[in-house]
Formats: sequence, structure tokens, C-alpha cells
Amino acid sequence: MTYPRIFLSPPHMSGQERLLVGEVFDQNYIAPAGPMIRRFEEALNGLTGFADTAALTSGTAAMHLALRLIDVQPGDEVWTSTLTFIGGVAPVLYEKATPVFFDVDERSWTLDTVLLAEQLAQAAKKGRLPRAVVPVDLYGQSCDLDEILALCAPYEVPVIVDSAEAVGTRYKDRHAGKGGLMACTSFNGNKIITTSGGGALSSDDPALVARARMLSQQAREPVPYYEHETYGYNYRLSSLCAAVGVGQLEVLGERVARRRAIFDGYVAGLGDLPGISFMPEADYGVANRWLTVINVDPAIGLKPETIRLALEEHDIESRPVWKPMHQQPVFRDAGYVGGEISARLFETGLCLPSGSSMSDADVARVVEHLRAVWTGR
Ligand SMILES: Cc1ncc(COP(=O)(O)O)c(C=O)c1O
Repeated sequence: MTYPRIFLSPPHMSGQERLLVGEVFDQNYIAPAGPMIRRFEEALNGLTGFADTAALTSGTAAMHLALRLIDVQPGDEVWTSTLTFIGGVAPVLYEKATPVFFDVDERSWTLDTVLLAEQLAQAAKKGRLPRAVVPVDLYGQSCDLDEILALCAPYEVPVIVDSAEAVGTRYKDRHAGKGGLMACTSFNGNKIITTSGGGALSSDDPALVARARMLSQQAREPVPYYEHETYGYNYRLSSLCAAVGVGQLEVLGERVARRRAIFDGYVAGLGDLPGISFMPEADYGVANRWLTVINVDPAIGLKPETIRLALEEHDIESRPVWKPMHQQPVFRDAGYVGGEISARLFETGLCLPSGSSMSDADVARVVEHLRAVWTGR
């Protein structure tokens, strides 16, 4: 018997999205602007608690606008976590600023706040503070945002949170990212909920969001003709995509619950295997468990790549942990602060299929094949 392929994190529609897209068709808001965009933004405000949100074409666009909004200049430093996806970092290059990468801590796999504290103090002495600190909420786990905010506040360094992977994640008693000057989210096709492609920029400063919206529409001044005091981008989300997002937000709670249950299923099915461990959950929050990530102790002689290829033979998709940014050729000249934790997680980590549409039987199938890899080692 052949089974359908199990993907890492495919889109999971509720059915409602199709009706909402139909509404956009009925009202002929196919030309991109329209009330569905505002509906999506307001739903996001409701979810995150931010005062306002601009719906955009991607999380990368959101980060780019965030950097423009704080007026990052060529040569300015932007400090961020090395264990991440390039989408949150490339905008630093767009603005010809200089990324400096930080290692993560063991308890959360997010920005190491001890390193941050040390480096801020040193940078302040030298008069070379970063223009921004960009912590990343990794694989749906929030960074320790209050700690980061407390460290940055005395130096007046803005904190922009890359919450691309953390829609639906809780930090203490609030949504991930809330408290940062701005937070960027992604609704890319592989995320916990998706708009096909999309992203958003949220802030408690409505003026910043208004400016983001304006820059996302080619920086048109509010006059009837085309007037531009600066340049912008074509970064506004379309109504059709926003309709998908409105439908997806309605089921976000269920999606988070299912991803967490899938994680628990893996722990129950694999936890006794020698040398295996799972991405920890920091005690300050509730992760959305966007992806379940395992670590395999090299001492047992099993490489994640061997496991990945073995799963692939059974049409099961898995993926290496993000390769740290400081190890990427494109960032060979960038500064790096910290030790070997991110590098080690890249060497030993593997992301397992985690899509919320996976059935218990799918999880059992992945578990069975993983156990077979251990048996055959
Ligand atoms: C941590 C992180 N930052 C930024 C992005 C960029 O988001 P997008 O793909 O919507 O541009 C992503 C995901 O794709 C991500 O995982």
C-alpha cells in the first residue's frame, strides 16, 4: 500500500476561507485594496493586543518596513539571533546596515540575554550602540521579551520582534511580540496559519503603522495626484489573501492545539529512544509548536541527515534546523557573539512533519519509521 506524502508544514484550510474569498469576488475588490484587508488587520489587533497592524505581502516586507521606520542607516548595526531564517535578516542588507549575530540559549533556543547584556554594556562604553535589537521567536517559541526590553531600555535601543513563526504563541500573559516597539509576523504558506503569502507589522504606536501602510503603497502622499516625499514599496497585502487570513485566524486556536498535540504524540512515541531530545519549552510562555524539533546526540552515531533521508524514502518530509546566519557564506564578514549552541543545534537537530492537518495515524507512521531508523543504526 502506498501512502500520501507527509509534508513538513502544509497549509490547512478550514473551508471558511473559500467563502470569504468569494465575498471579495462578489464585491469585486480584486483590485487589491478593500475592506477585507482592514478586517484582517483588526482581527490581528484582536489576537495580538497591539494597537494597530498593517497587512503586508510577507514577513520579510514587514521587517524591511520596520527598519525603514526607525531610519536604519548604512553602517548601523542591527543585532539579532543567529539561529533563524534569512527572511528576517536580509532587510538589514537592503538598508546597507550591518547585522551582528548572537548565539541562543539552551533553555529557549532564542537570543541569549546574558550575551546581550554584556555586549550592550560594552557597546555603550564605546559609543557604538546598535540601531536596533531584533530577537527571533524561534519555531514558535517566544524570546524572553521582557528581559530583552529591560536590557535595551536604558540605552534607548528599539526592539523589533521577529515573530514570523510565532502567531498564536503566548509570552507570559500576552501574545508573542507584544511589548516590542514593533513585531513582524508571517503568513507564508508553511506557517501555522497562512494567507498563501503574507505578513504583518504590528505596533502600539498607530503612527508607525500608518507610516508602514503608506510606505507599503509606494509612499503616496495624501493628495489626489501622485506626490512622493520619499520612496516606498509595493508591499500591501491583497484583499484575496486577506480573506484567506480572516478565515485562518478563526481557527488559529485549534491549529495551535493540534500542533501541540502532535508534539506530545512525538514525545510519547519517541521519548524513550536513546540519544533523542526535544526542543525545550521555556517556562515563561506557551509555544505554538509550529515545528516539532528533535535533537540527536552524536554519541549514538546517528546523523540528522541519515534520518532525513530514511524518512524521505517513505515519502515523509523533514528538514534540518536553520543553518545559523553567522555560518552562511553571505554573512562571512558579519560579527558574531557567543559560543557553539546554534552551530551544534544545526548539526544535531531535525524538524519533523508538524502540519495541523496530520492525523494521529500520520504521526504514528512518522514515529514508526523513525523508530526503525534507530533499530537499524
Ligand atoms: C524567523 C523568520 N523570519 C522571517 C521570515 C520571513 O517571512 P516571509 O516568508 O513571510 O517573508 C520567516 C519565514 O518565512 C521566518 O521564519
